[in-house]
Amino acid sequence: MPIEITAAAAGRWTLGDRPVHRMGFGSMRITAHPDRDRALRVLRRAVELGVDHIDTAAFYVSPGGTLKVGTGPARYATELIRAALAPYPEHLVIATKVGFRSDPATGTHEEAGPAQLRAQVEENLRRLGRDHLDLVNLRIVKRPTPDSVAERFGALAELRDAGLIRHLGLSNVRLDHLDEAQTIAPVVCVQNNYALDNRGDQDALIRECGARGIAYVPFFALAGGNREGGARADHSAAVRAVARAHDATSAQVRLAWTLHQGPHVLAIPGTGDPAHLAENVAAAALRLTPDELAALDQQ
Ligand SMILES: NC(=O)c1ccc[n+]([C@@H]2O[C@H](COP(=O)([O-])OP(=O)(O)OC[C@H]3O[C@@H](n4cnc5c(N)ncnc54)[C@H](OP(=O)(O)O)[C@@H]3O)[C@@H](O)[C@H]2O)c1
Repeated sequence: MPIEITAAAAGRWTLGDRPVHRMGFGSMRITAHPDRDRALRVLRRAVELGVDHIDTAAFYVSPGGTLKVGTGPARYATELIRAALAPYPEHLVIATKVGFRSDPATGTHEEAGPAQLRAQVEENLRRLGRDHLDLVNLRIVKRPTPDSVAERFGALAELRDAGLIRHLGLSNVRLDHLDEAQTIAPVVCVQNNYALDNRGDQDALIRECGARGIAYVPFFALAGGNREGGARADHSAAVRAVARAHDATSAQVRLAWTLHQGPHVLAIPGTGDPAHLAENVAAAALRLTPDELAALDQQ
């Protein structure tokens, strides 16, 4: 019988004082499918396969929400996580995000001010069934002009001091936001949009996070520029060639490339599909050669 590959094959990183496997799981997609039991199965299987870092948000909800798909009763990712996994294993790190809110009814998004952040933290505590949150990212809406995260990050730092939050991170930010936040409280991760075919201006920030001992956690590593629209089937010739060479799938190559961007880079692929989950976790063991990485970088 073949040995089962687990998330441990990706190696570890420590978020503050919480060690996690570098192959994690993003929970936004588990709300998309109306079959609640399927979502619970995916979550439980992820943990069985060694995933100990799950990303979520109280605003991951279907119908509507960020994915704008689905019918049926409300399905909150946070509540599915609680139903599937509580009482939570000691080693499981659940990262959530606040600062950004979508109205399921209208599909509109708005940024939360400092006064609303406490209510959002409390909503996460309630829906997850926790007395504290392992990791909370301040998710901002990035603007072209300089803006400050000091007031909002300061509000979260107070909640950290009060014991409601163990560690803080930032999401959708630039280096100047990180610099500012680090003068207020420790930052353990930056969660930004980054993929093989959607690198934007992130490479310098990724290096800087590594130099500062901060995890870089890319979202949309599979979906790339298609964002909430999900993964597309039309992968580049380079991705397909590397996949053939390893008897792997294109999605696995994209995830392996992500993990090769640095020991501090953590993958959080999202899926509501049990087969995709197994495939994604197995990418933790996929090692790419320097030539393959160069070919992927040149695509
Ligand atoms: N900080 C932020 O602002 C922010 C924004 C967006 C997302 N996030 C977080 O990042 C996580 C990742 O983002 P994401 O889930 O939207 O996108 P993703 O991980 O880039 O990809 C998800 C898409 O890929 C498909 N997929 C997954 N595994 C696959 C496989 N092995 N083969 C083929 N297709 C596959 C999924 O469809 P199936 O469900 O059918 O597999 C879905 O369409 C989210 O779950 C969320 O936790 C954070």
